[in-house]
Amino acid sequence: MTDVSPLTEAPNPVRELSDEALRSRAAGALERARARSTALTAAVDDDDLVRQHSKLMSPLVWDLAHIGSQEELWLVRDVGGREPLRPDIDDLYDAFQHPRASRPSLPLLGPAEARAYVAEVRAKAFDVLERAPMTGRPLTEAGFAFGMITQHEQQHDETMLATHQLRKGDPVLHAPAPPAARSGPLPGEVFVPAGPFVMGTSLEPWALDNERPAHEVEVDAFHLDTVPVTNGAYVEFLEDGGYDRRELWSAAGWAYRTEHDITAPRFWRREPDGWWRVRFGVHEPVPADQPVVHVSYYEAEAYAAWAGKRLPTEAEWEKAARFDPATRESRRYPWGNDDPTPEHANLGQRHLSPAPAGAYPKGASALGVHQLIGDVWEWTSTDFAGYPGFRAFPYREYSEVFFGPEYKVLRGGSFGTDAAAVRGTFRNWDYPIRRQIFAGFRCARDAAPGERA
Ligand SMILES: [Fe+2]
Repeated sequence: MTDVSPLTEAPNPVRELSDEALRSRAAGALERARARSTALTAAVDDDDLVRQHSKLMSPLVWDLAHIGSQEELWLVRDVGGREPLRPDIDDLYDAFQHPRASRPSLPLLGPAEARAYVAEVRAKAFDVLERAPMTGRPLTEAGFAFGMITQHEQQHDETMLATHQLRKGDPVLHAPAPPAARSGPLPGEVFVPAGPFVMGTSLEPWALDNERPAHEVEVDAFHLDTVPVTNGAYVEFLEDGGYDRRELWSAAGWAYRTEHDITAPRFWRREPDGWWRVRFGVHEPVPADQPVVHVSYYEAEAYAAWAGKRLPTEAEWEKAARFDPATRESRRYPWGNDDPTPEHANLGQRHLSPAPAGAYPKGASALGVHQLIGDVWEWTSTDFAGYPGFRAFPYREYSEVFFGPEYKVLRGGSFGTDAAAVRGTFRNWDYPIRRQIFAGFRCARDAAPGERA
């Protein structure tokens, strides 16, 4: 009989921080988010800020004031117990009251008013943070509410970045190109042996309700692509008639593909000399070595069928990302338990595109899988649902109302996701038809029976 150490969640360094260190972590994260919101909204003129660039998106000025409104509700009023600043606008910026398409017709705050409002809220929120207890009720434990509001702002920043991608006109956003591939040749797939691992978290202080609690999940042996599917590989599927071969598509996927006449990833166009794309206003040849982005779940599913594979389940993705077979611990991130740095992953809009496959060798997981965090969100085959023992917190509308078969889980974050808003346990969800988000995918396949030992 072998002595097997228990399965655990890796120790979490954030839990060791003093109250002062937690406050400064929260303040730094809030400031980083605000610098980004400011840059995204300062890049265009007032006309552009109030315009709806796509029916799929809100006007940028709605996102900005909505960021302030949520911050006022949770940090100023709830945690701080302060008087409301603008109770009259609560309803306008309630995402559940007004679908995106209807938001331009609301009597929204104008750009100058919205900027003044978010600044006033932020000053009060910082005042609350200075005095806020870091223990006591769950909302304030280790600064949770500040972490939740930081992630909320960063999520809207990513949404605003997607609005920029949909916007017509000359480029207004600029950033250096991502690093080149530097890992050397990588195997096409990584083998993940059968066995249980700890999925989800009960230790990450700023983890959201849907990531909790930690629980053991049994996963069969499988193979996972070492890197996300690249544009070069995707073009082969395209050129092999992938969009015209009914047998590669699910019924729902085929209906969607034909109804909307989808023939390539969004923002792509065929030119005499090959495939080109528009990326934040820049027209450029599609780079073969970068992960494909702006594909729906249905396109990902069809590609996987063409490749003789399938999409990974959410549990497979997380095991490949977090599980260290040597220690039997589930890490916070693929590379370990330390927060992401620019050496680990392409996050935070430092670059305006995914990085080539092999660009982040230091970000590889214990099992040897690359670029799980950053670059592109990865579609999984799993419907969004609560883990065993799920409890809605701090409100049902955060995630519980989205549980069900209409949403697929995406993992890992994109180049447009901030480090504060993604981790090994983080779960995103969206409709399988969505293409304006920064989503790509990687494929998996079952291990052969002989490989399961
Ligand atoms: Fe929101």
